[in-house]
Amino acid sequence: MPAEPAPAELASAAERIPEGRALHGRVILIAGAHGALGHAASRACAAAGASVVLLGRKVPKLNRVYDAIVREGGEALLYPLDLEGATPDDYAEMAERIETGLGRLDGVLHVAASFPGLTPLENTDPAAFARDIHVNLTARWWLTQACLPALRRAPDAALVFALDAPERTSAAYWGGYGVAQAANAALVNMLHAELAASTVRVAGLTPGPMRTPLRARAYVEDAPDAARDAVDYAPACVELLSASGSPHRGTIWTPPA
Ligand SMILES: NC(=O)c1ccc[n+]([C@@H]2O[C@H](COP(=O)([O-])OP(=O)(O)OC[C@H]3O[C@@H](n4cnc5c(N)ncnc54)[C@H](OP(=O)(O)O)[C@@H]3O)[C@@H](O)[C@H]2O)c1
Repeated sequence: MPAEPAPAELASAAERIPEGRALHGRVILIAGAHGALGHAASRACAAAGASVVLLGRKVPKLNRVYDAIVREGGEALLYPLDLEGATPDDYAEMAERIETGLGRLDGVLHVAASFPGLTPLENTDPAAFARDIHVNLTARWWLTQACLPALRRAPDAALVFALDAPERTSAAYWGGYGVAQAANAALVNMLHAELAASTVRVAGLTPGPMRTPLRARAYVEDAPDAARDAVDYAPACVELLSASGSPHRGTIWTPPA
C-alpha cells in the first residue's frame, strides 16, 4: 500500500516541480493530507516553499506527514477534522484560525475522498450514499465557501479539486462517489465562471490511475503497471497551486502520464 512515498521518490518528484520554490511564502490548506495523493502533495508543496496546513481525520497519520515535512526542512501545521461531521461553523473557525495564525491563505487543495467500494445503487446503504455525497461534494463546498474571503485577500489564490474521471465513475457501481465526481466537475465550472474576474483561480485535477487505498477498493487485482504512484502527480498539484497554474484556470486538467 503506497500511502507513504519513500523519501527518494519524493525527491525525484520535487526535482520536477516547476520554478523551484514555486510556492514560496504561500499558505496552502490540503484537505485529505494523509491520503496517498494528499501525503505526496503536502510534502511537495512544503518542498516548494509553502507553509502547509494539513487537514485530515486521523492524527497519527497526520503526524507522519508533518514529521516528514519537518525532516525535509519544510513548514506545516496540523488541522485534525472529520469532513463527515464538520459544520459550516467549523470551517469558518478553521479559516479564521489559519488567517489569524499564519496571516494569509493562498490555496486549497481538495484530495480527501470517501469511497467504500463498488456497489449497485439498488443495494447501497442510504446512509453510506449520503456520506459519500457529503464528504466528496458538500463538505468540499462548505470548506471552500468558508475559505473564499481569505483567498480573495491573497494576491494570487488557487482552488484545486481532485476528481476521478467522470466518464469512468459515471458507469455502473460507482455509487455516491461516482455521482459526486460528476458534480465536482460542475462545481469547478460554476465556481470558475463566478470567480473569473477575481484573483482566485479554480481548477480541477484528474490524475491518472494511482496505486492507492482508494483505487484498491475498486480494482482488487490490479496489474502492477495499471496505475502509478501518487507521488508522480504531486508536481501537478504544486503547479496548479502556484502562479504557473494560470493556464489551467477554469479547466479540468489531466497531467501527461
Ligand atoms: N487513486 C486513483 O486512482 C485516483 C484517480 C483519479 C482521481 N483520484 C482522486 O484523487 C484524490 C485522492 O485520492 P487517493 O487515491 O489519494 O485516495 P486515498 O489514499 O484513499 O486518500 C483519501 C483521503 O481522504 C480521507 N478521508 C476520507 N473520508 C474523510 C473524512 N470524512 N474526513 C477527512 N478525510 C477523509 C481519507 O482518510 P482515511 O485514511 O482516514 O480514510 C484519506 O486520507 C481523490 O479526490 C480521488 O477522487 C484518485
